[in-house]
Amino acid sequence: MRVGVLTGGGDSAGLNAAIRAVARCTFADGGTVVGIHNGWAGLTGAGDMRDLVPHDVSGILTLGGTILGSSRVNPLADPETMAAVRGNLARSGLDALVTIGGDDTLRVANALAAGGAPVVGVPKTMDNDLQVTEYCIGFDSAVAVVTEAVDRLHTTAASHHRVMVVEVMGRDTGWVALMGGIAGGADMIVIPEFPVAVDTIAEHLDRRRGRGREFSIIVVAEGADVAGLAPVDLSQAPRDSFGHVQLSRRGVGDRLGAQIEALTGFETRITVLGHTQRGGQPTAYDRIWATRVGAAAHDLVRAGRFGEIPVKRGDQVVPAMIADVVASARQVPAELYELARVFY
Ligand code: F6P
Repeated sequence: MRVGVLTGGGDSAGLNAAIRAVARCTFADGGTVVGIHNGWAGLTGAGDMRDLVPHDVSGILTLGGTILGSSRVNPLADPETMAAVRGNLARSGLDALVTIGGDDTLRVANALAAGGAPVVGVPKTMDNDLQVTEYCIGFDSAVAVVTEAVDRLHTTAASHHRVMVVEVMGRDTGWVALMGGIAGGADMIVIPEFPVAVDTIAEHLDRRRGRGREFSIIVVAEGADVAGLAPVDLSQAPRDSFGHVQLSRRGVGDRLGAQIEALTGFETRITVLGHTQRGGQPTAYDRIWATRVGAAAHDLVRAGRFGEIPVKRGDQVVPAMIADVVASARQVPAELYELARVFY
């Protein structure tokens, strides 16, 4: 079989482990692997892809990023681009295409599969917000970065009796903020699913001061809404071809920190973790599960189960429909949010 692989959207740690799994399993079957460069961009124009040899996927298990490159090119934004993708797929003689991506990339995969193209998905996004699956490649590594940052900020916050605001990624959901905050023992976690007013945050910090807590760590998700902060207007901000504004431009960490200082008098510092959450080596958990879902994607290809995607359910990898995985964003449930609040 001739199997294409692409990685689309924001990169994350663990992508190479998945590429390696798809490739090794395909080679073991006597198949050929074609690396598509830079996500969907590699299937536009004249196409940008090359056959991989076993050496290409050797030694990449531990590497962050993606050896194939990525992009946020969205063929669905323009019918001609979508036609070019279909044309390139047909011309390249691929028997199957494995698309490793988050909701944006997988929506394109789903549209292609609905039109009869032999496409299989693999769930990836540090945001961990795909439906149906309990795991997306890159989430655990991102949480590890947040946890380490919160650990480090504790000692300096304590020394200076400061409030530390840590802004983390996650787009419209709070998985990274919540899990990183729980693991690091944050004193408050602010996420899009459960909006909170800045007055409530200030009251909480004052109450902590009353209990002798002279420092606090607040983890805030980039997409969180906090009533009472200076407004930002992003209506003119640039958008990527999927229509997303860069959420770090909202500057929620900065605006929250300034208002906390004004309301409580606590000296406040802001740390924006940004793309450090996506870079560097994948954790063991990401390597293992990326390997498992990558190998399972190969099994779907071999079985001709196109339009499907392997997902994590408990300790198992099971097949699901790509359409269901991208139907909406998976949100943090109330019970997890409430668990974090026990430790404030
Ligand atoms: O979707 C993954 C993600 O890292 C989001 O958490 C974040 O909002 C966005 O990508 C950042 O995208 P970019 O790499 O284009 O700045």
